[in-house]
Amino acid sequence: MIPREVVEEIVRRSDIEQVIGSYVTLKRAGSNMSGLCPFHSERTPSFTVFKASDSFYCFGCGAGGDVITFIMKAENVDYPTALEMLAARAGITIPQDNREYRKGPSRERIREMNTAAARFFHHCLMHEPCGAQAREYIAERKLSGATVKHFYLGYAPNDFGMLRDHLRKNGFTEEEMIVGFLCGKSEKTGRAYDYFRNRVIFPIVDTSRNIVAFGGRVMDNSKPKYLNTSDTPAFKKSKNLFALNYAKDHCAEQLILCEGYMDVIALHQAGFENAVATLGTAITEEHARIIAKYTKRVIISYDSDEAGVNAANKAMRLLGAVGVEVRVLKMEGAKDPDEYIKKFGAAAFKSLIEQSRTGFEYKLEAVAQKYDVSQTDQKLRAVADIVGIISDYYSGVEREVYVMRAAERLKVSADALAGDVEKQRNKKLWELKNAQTKEAHASIRDFGDRINPDAAKNPRAAAAEETILGLLLLFPEQRDAVLAGQVSLTSDDFFTDFSRRAFDAIMRLHGEEGGFVFSLLGADFSADEMGRLQSLEVNRRSLTDNGVKVLEEAISVLRGAKEGTGEKSLGDALAEKRKRLAAQRQKNQK
Ligand code: UTP
Ligand code: MN
Repeated sequence: MIPREVVEEIVRRSDIEQVIGSYVTLKRAGSNMSGLCPFHSERTPSFTVFKASDSFYCFGCGAGGDVITFIMKAENVDYPTALEMLAARAGITIPQDNREYRKGPSRERIREMNTAAARFFHHCLMHEPCGAQAREYIAERKLSGATVKHFYLGYAPNDFGMLRDHLRKNGFTEEEMIVGFLCGKSEKTGRAYDYFRNRVIFPIVDTSRNIVAFGGRVMDNSKPKYLNTSDTPAFKKSKNLFALNYAKDHCAEQLILCEGYMDVIALHQAGFENAVATLGTAITEEHARIIAKYTKRVIISYDSDEAGVNAANKAMRLLGAVGVEVRVLKMEGAKDPDEYIKKFGAAAFKSLIEQSRTGFEYKLEAVAQKYDVSQTDQKLRAVADIVGIISDYYSGVEREVYVMRAAERLKVSADALAGDVEKQRNKKLWELKNAQTKEAHASIRDFGDRINPDAAKNPRAAAAEETILGLLLLFPEQRDAVLAGQVSLTSDDFFTDFSRRAFDAIMRLHGEEGGFVFSLLGADFSADEMGRLQSLEVNRRSLTDNGVKVLEEAISVLRGAKEGTGEKSLGDALAEKRKRLAAQRQKNQK
């Protein structure tokens, strides 16, 4: 068996987009990539690579999994061989003897090295002659001495080896510098060279006050404007927020979410200590879940350009899904919060926050702007859009309030609008309920479900199991609840062998030191089974919360379906049909 650290390292060093991209032509589709599925023949792409979760899934044939599963399928090899191939590609040697395995640089080592690097950068900015231009730049950006100290800003000299040599003197190896992303590795000489050069440096500090990464900005208009640390053993950018180390103590009521480092720094300097930003990436589901732990309400203060508006929509959706109240700032006369504060002052920004619109007002305004509601046909389309939006709200009171507001804005009758909203909502609920049963029925039609043959005996129980597994795969907090016994669920509750195996494996990994990692399931499941597990997760990503209610319901459905007889007859009938078809097929083959 290959140790989990090695598997995790191989997965971390194998960029899924790059690996799959060398087999499939991928095109960007929003935050994902898509292309023609290599595992079945198709003309329109239904094969998708999700960078945020390091996974892929084909909506056409159900192939899916992580980067290891992809290699297993594409090269038709087993799990250990796929790992070897990826390891070779990433330049990692898999130890023959487990005990021989020398772990790469640890998280602790990288943190220590980052601390040493941050000191070096800060010193260059404050005291070295080479930092003169950076000092000027910082003064130009109106950052005070106190702010520079507070954020421990720095300057990376315009040199390929100064940081490297400094770190080496402090006992760090070039391997550590490369893995920790402070240095690149020269293709020609194999030596480490400084990655951040001639840039103002923003250290990124986690909530336990470790320096985990850096951002670096050029001081002119050259490109790229910012460089950021990629994922390392000490840092995952989809999980960290800039300045959360400070903001966490000031954001119980509300948190200001910005796009850029400079916005956050300007806000803190102006007294808004509850501001954070994502790090060179759009907000992810993981960010949303972290934010939900710290605050009740988020004020989205993104740039006022089109990219900012799109990003705000995404943030609204993800934050809404974890139950955070969302408001959106309407900024006019400046492109971002940093510029706004410089132009109009902190008091003006404060009143912007007070006037920030609820997520619903923002969406309503967007609909009203999109159509010319003085024209009948356009007005109908605006109404259809807003009906779709309001019907998604869970709370009846909220729907009622928004119906009145929308009726007023679009000049239609509130009663008629309310009627349409409820109709739409019932339709959606009905579709949702059906989708799950249909999913189960479809997969056992005709020749049965190859991956989960027991499903045919009790489709309802099998569907409930799939819901449960999907939630456990998606949400660590649900795994915690099961592990702690807050949610009563054991392997005995499961009806099908496949789901029971999946449940046992997920919970076993979750209980281990290092926790649940999807890639580790590959050791116990075939590539096709991995595809099924991936589908369970993908199909539930659209859930509008972390699914506590859904989980409880599915568990009670599962128990009912296992005991009840009514559903069994349907299951038996389907099992019968399957047998008959199989027999027929055998006959035909003779
Ligand atoms: P902006 O271009 O809005 O930069 O990018 P900014 O933060 O307002 O900085 P100033 O005011 O121009 O100095 C917003 C964020 O997007 C990421 C960074 O995290 C930045 O703070 N970004 C931007 C990058 O990661 N790389 C880039 O090349 C540009
Ligand atoms: Mn800016």
